[in-house]
Amino acid sequence: MISQTLRDARKYEETMEKKIGRDDKPDFHLSTRVGWMNDPNGFSYYNGEYHMFYQYHPYDSHWGPMHWGHAVSADLLRWKYLPAALAPDTEYDRDGCFSGSAVVLPDGRHMLLYTGVAKETQPDGSMREVQTQCVAVGDGMDYEKYAGNPVITEKDLPEGSSRFDFRDPKIWQKPDGSYRCVAGNCTEEGDGRILLYSSPDGINWKYEKILAANHMRFGRMWECPDFFVLDGKGVLITSPQDMFPQGFEYHNGNGTLCLIGAYDDATETFTEEGNQAIDYGIDFYAPQTVLAPDGRRIMIGWMQNWDTCNLHTPAQPWLGQMTLPRELSVHNGRLYQKPIRELDDMHGKEVRHENVTFTDVIRLAGVEGRKVDMELSIRPGDAQNIYRKFAVRFAQDDTCHTSISFRPYESIVKVDRKFSGSRRAIIHQRRCLVNSEGGVLKMRIILDKFSVEAFVNDGEHVLTATFYTDLAADGISFYADGSVTMDIVKYEIK
Ligand code: FRU
Repeated sequence: MISQTLRDARKYEETMEKKIGRDDKPDFHLSTRVGWMNDPNGFSYYNGEYHMFYQYHPYDSHWGPMHWGHAVSADLLRWKYLPAALAPDTEYDRDGCFSGSAVVLPDGRHMLLYTGVAKETQPDGSMREVQTQCVAVGDGMDYEKYAGNPVITEKDLPEGSSRFDFRDPKIWQKPDGSYRCVAGNCTEEGDGRILLYSSPDGINWKYEKILAANHMRFGRMWECPDFFVLDGKGVLITSPQDMFPQGFEYHNGNGTLCLIGAYDDATETFTEEGNQAIDYGIDFYAPQTVLAPDGRRIMIGWMQNWDTCNLHTPAQPWLGQMTLPRELSVHNGRLYQKPIRELDDMHGKEVRHENVTFTDVIRLAGVEGRKVDMELSIRPGDAQNIYRKFAVRFAQDDTCHTSISFRPYESIVKVDRKFSGSRRAIIHQRRCLVNSEGGVLKMRIILDKFSVEAFVNDGEHVLTATFYTDLAADGISFYADGSVTMDIVKYEIK
């Protein structure tokens, strides 16, 4: 029972993907099959494979009527596309199948819970999008929308809620077999909050409570929530829209927020204890997690920035890629992220340099490339006189480079893509306050053609950015203002 709208999308993506060169796409990061990709959706483990769906507009490299794209992988790094899974083809989702999640049903079927969007004329003549939560059930390839959709509607909203901002359900199953989901919502005044629902079967849902509320602290509407218990703590992640900056922690625009706190499962009460940004770079939004069969909590985010993703020409055949999958943990009330260990299996040639001391620009034998995993440990070359700045530059040629730098006196790590070949007045730099003492810092930096992800101090802080520098620019160099001593282990990625 595949609709004509979905059949058209499947045919289109199959034809058009052949027009995109292998070199134009990242290698081990999931990117859109064609057209446009935003949020990760339905991240789940089903029938021996990881499934990732995504917000998808196949017909254009700009956002449009949302479909769900679909890909599978055994190792979360090498992805295979499957046909698009959902299209906006029914009354209640005619204007878009927005973000959602997936769970495996006891009878072995795969269930998607997503937001259906339908525009409605308001009494004042304006058009608004009404958002409801809907179900589709399938076999890992084809999904059928539930005849009783939508399953959660405005009737299930607490008083004072906006029915125009009610989306992105994230579902999980409890040990007793029942289901819970969290959804993003805001008050009529635009103050974000995360709602908790319960269900015996994934179909019949009951509103439980407001699990966490913004009280206008972090942006406005809260999108794409996820909630889980990790290392004894309740962890709520969400993506607030329209943020004001706060020190070096939060930046202007649509950002990410992680609330860590106490969670009492008996009463399903979450008590916030601390907050932090999830990623401090330029391109990171709407992350979603999966619980892997081996117990790891793995997160993938959309590697883009809403304020800078519309500057390309419609002629560009694709836009949108995901971050590396990251293993999460909580230490001392803080969320840590590490690149998934499966990446180690893709390591090619190893290059090592130890105790390299430099006071200006250097290049190191065997250190170059645009598909790279490198670990840098830096310390002062002269203990009496700590250096003022360290930088690693990559995607470099005579005119271009992107860099990650560290200033020990300010304890600031910065990503800078000003010289990446951009001709636009967009955000090119982001700074992050890190923990360091005496000029000692550890960084793992991963490049995949058009992106950098820098994991500082074993994943205590992460900075992610995209750049579209010509692939021929594959130089890597190091810079010190003062004297730096560095150990480096570098792998090319196969
Ligand atoms: C977040 C978001 C979601 C929504 C989707 C629409 O990036 O705005 O809230 O479901 O994108 O594509």
